[in-house]
Amino acid sequence: MSEFSIEAIGSIEKWTINGEARRNAISRAMALELEQHLARVSTGHTVRAVIITGAGTKAFCSGADLKERATMSEDDVRGFLLRLRNTLRAIEKSDCVFIAFLNGVAFGGGTELALACDLRVIDPSAEMGLTEVKLGIIPGGGGTQRLPRLIGKAHAKDLILTGRRVGAEEAKAIGLVNRIGSLQTALELAHAVTANAPIAVGAAKHAIDEGAALDLDAALALEHAHYEKTLKTEDRLEGIKAFAEKRAPVFTGR
Ligand code: COA
Repeated sequence: MSEFSIEAIGSIEKWTINGEARRNAISRAMALELEQHLARVSTGHTVRAVIITGAGTKAFCSGADLKERATMSEDDVRGFLLRLRNTLRAIEKSDCVFIAFLNGVAFGGGTELALACDLRVIDPSAEMGLTEVKLGIIPGGGGTQRLPRLIGKAHAKDLILTGRRVGAEEAKAIGLVNRIGSLQTALELAHAVTANAPIAVGAAKHAIDEGAALDLDAALALEHAHYEKTLKTEDRLEGIKAFAEKRAPVFTGR
């Protein structure tokens, strides 16, 4: 059986982690298949947005596969983490927009997977957490870096140093998720993104992500470089024309 069930909905794909019995934990096989799907959609041309979710109702992703981890040597763990870090980074480097729909709990690597996505929607009953210190380790898939960048150091330390779990309301209140809702909410978000000009959406995503670690002058120069990509597009002209003609624009991604 494949590690993911893939469903195409127009220019959107839904990727469901196919591991309900292990609460969709990240095994080596699952990480490898994720890498392959990411390579397939990286240009954002045909597939414009991806919703990542988990099978069943209990878990989005319970983090590293702890049963598999028990069989791994120190070197195996190092190799796995290096690969996982690169895989999660590929989500950010992609021109495609990624939405995590947290249909159930997301702990450890599950929360890290959600953090690497562009947007997060959480089921009202789901919980999140970077619980690694409770297992004698620290987040190894970017959690110590992406969480403070997203919600600030104070909230990030509160979550990571205690390893506590947060519910949907708190996750929303601290900016850890964008919406509380259902798969339908995630789909609506995906449709709202894919209705826009593809090159503009990709450029805006990268301007936000790449600019976050720069000083303001460098960040503004970066924004300008990304703006340049939209200046030459047919979609920019279509946007202006549609506005003048009081109609919805028809974007082609050119
Ligand atoms: N890796 C491997 N297997 C896992 C797993 C993980 N991260 N999380 C859960 N499973 C397995 C359980 O071992 C169990 O397998 P079994 O049926 O062979 O005993 C099965 O999934 C169901 O788990 P269970 O705990 O009974 O389900 P639940 O729905 O009550 O709780 C969790 C789900 C995710 C809340 C709970 O399993 C949990 O806390 N898991 C550990 C999560 C964690 O610490 N992740 C951080 C890793 S760094």
